[in-house]
Amino acid sequence: MKTQVGIIGAGPAGLFLSHLLHRLGIGCIIIESRSRHDVEQTVRAGVLEHWVVALMNDLGLGERMMREAHVHDGITLQWNRERHHVDIKGLTGGKRNVVYAQHEVLKDLIAGRLAQGGEIVFGVGGTTIRDIDTDHPAIDFRRDGTGALETILCDYVVGADGFYGPGRQAIPAVHRNEYQKIYPFGWLGILTRAPRSWEEIIYANQGDGFALLSTRSPDVQRLYFQCDPNDDIANWSDARIWEQLQARLGTDDGWTLTEGPIFQKGIIPLRSFVCEPMQYGRLFIAGDAAHIVPPTGAKGLNLAVADVLVLSRALEAHYKNDSRDLLDRYSATCLRRVWKAERFSWYMTTMLHRNERETDFEQRIHFADLDLVRTSEASARSLAENYVGLPFD
Ligand code: DHB
Repeated sequence: MKTQVGIIGAGPAGLFLSHLLHRLGIGCIIIESRSRHDVEQTVRAGVLEHWVVALMNDLGLGERMMREAHVHDGITLQWNRERHHVDIKGLTGGKRNVVYAQHEVLKDLIAGRLAQGGEIVFGVGGTTIRDIDTDHPAIDFRRDGTGALETILCDYVVGADGFYGPGRQAIPAVHRNEYQKIYPFGWLGILTRAPRSWEEIIYANQGDGFALLSTRSPDVQRLYFQCDPNDDIANWSDARIWEQLQARLGTDDGWTLTEGPIFQKGIIPLRSFVCEPMQYGRLFIAGDAAHIVPPTGAKGLNLAVADVLVLSRALEAHYKNDSRDLLDRYSATCLRRVWKAERFSWYMTTMLHRNERETDFEQRIHFADLDLVRTSEASARSLAENYVGLPFD
């Protein structure tokens, strides 16, 4: 097989890139280790920054999103059994995020790409990247994991293959710097069939720590709370889950959290991670392959899309104007914004979680941080600007 850009991974980074390149008339092929069904069913976060919503619409992929997504003007912060509305729209000159689950975005991107005749090979195994320090890089893989060895010959390879994929590992270790923070808590997330209990997302730090109330549709709600990252989900009966959520989201003003049957539950660890640089030779890495954020603030998908938007502009300049300048600066351009999103995700996580390894002094500082957002417009605006997504510089 021969193409201009060989993409490993059909997650948000790989799929958005394939759409951006198609619009520019640049050829690409995606290979993906999971089945289409698995890609489309994996439950992840669900907040799209305002410019990602605009991009979905620009690419002609926004029709279902505009019908089904929940648009919210602000978020609610909660501590000490009291709530405070942060007017994201008012603080950012009218910008708003929407709640639309990541796997719904992926379904729309995959269907759109296949309808254009785009090539996505699902279920591959044995993926190897080679010759990225030459001008004829290649990707080897086996269809269905065990088929004959096939090769994609391309001009550039994009590793959009997640934290555990071969993309990042293909950058020689001596050329890679990795920065990491592991948090001593995880998130227990559920989907429940119940009506909405509150009109916007609530981020709470109360009782035993963090809880988050979000939504998927008028009848399905998404909730999370912090737990031991090594805990077994089997230890969490529905009754025990609701007891924690009621305690962490409860108020004294008569509000009630409506419970319903829980039909999906799981525990995820929390990690911050950045790999520098995000390119080597003819390989570029994007999304989780290059950086991980803890989910507080839901930046993961948005950062992945930002990477490939930068990359698509650089590839456009290369193929249309024969300029390598933007391609050479891909990593530096992305990392400036990545580190700010890392800072924001770390800030939200630290402020909103109870960390047994911290002193009581530090815990008190987090409540002061929350109260600053309530009382200082500058503080609230900073949170809001980061929440809707920072500009590209
Ligand atoms: C959701 C996830 C998040 O991490 C967040 O900050 C807000 C919402 C969600 O899954 O809806």
